[in-house]
Amino acid sequence: MEQLEYWNSVSEKKEFTSPLILENLAKYIKKDSRILDVGCGYGRTLEELYQNGYRNLVGIDFSSGMIERGKRQFPYLDLQIKENDKIALPDASVDAVILFAVLTCIRTNEEQEQLVSEIKRVLKPQGILYVNDFLLNTDERNLSRYEKFKEIYGVYGVFELPEGAVCRHHDEKWIRQLLRDFSQLDYSCVTRTTMNGHQSNGFYFIGKLTGVKEHK
Ligand SMILES: C[S@@+](CC[C@H](N)C(=O)[O-])C[C@H]1O[C@@H](n2cnc3c(N)ncnc32)[C@H](O)[C@@H]1O
Repeated sequence: MEQLEYWNSVSEKKEFTSPLILENLAKYIKKDSRILDVGCGYGRTLEELYQNGYRNLVGIDFSSGMIERGKRQFPYLDLQIKENDKIALPDASVDAVILFAVLTCIRTNEEQEQLVSEIKRVLKPQGILYVNDFLLNTDERNLSRYEKFKEIYGVYGVFELPEGAVCRHHDEKWIRQLLRDFSQLDYSCVTRTTMNGHQSNGFYFIGKLTGVKEHK
């Protein structure tokens, strides 16, 4: 199943749970900071920011179903469909980017690099990136699916869910490499509940853009 098709098919059903730890993020942003939520789903993270007084918010997601649901549920939020690999915002135009449980939806290193490169383009110098995502697990259920799907997808940690989604759990070393242009402000390994109610290793990272900016 095409991943866009999958996310559209579940857009009315899923409830996402990666926690926004606002007190940690609030150290680095202001109430009027321009905040972009990439892969915002139906906008529940932006809604939390809105309810806490943040107003300069925009969310993008490639699933039109997610965006339609979000507009219905939270009509005052600016939610937009991400039409292609580019983020439809000017260079250096946002103070902070939120990226929650989106890397797990992108199975190749190249596509993840492409997305992070776009995030770096739209962030202002010293801009903040807040990532929540999943790490590799060592239990039998996960080990056997990582092995099985490595044959198909060529990346250890990628697997299919029976419902059609292709997901990725990450090696921490890869996450460090991917986020190399951000200096770490906050990082923690945590146990997360997935959208299907399982426990998984995860992390959150808050970093500041300090690396060389790539403009394409
Ligand atoms: C697990 S959900 C998380 C949604 C939201 N970040 C949250 O935590 O509530 C993943 C979201 O990423 C979106 N997504 C996956 N790949 C994407 C991509 N390449 N570009 C934009 N959105 C993407 C999906 O449509 C889905 O809404």
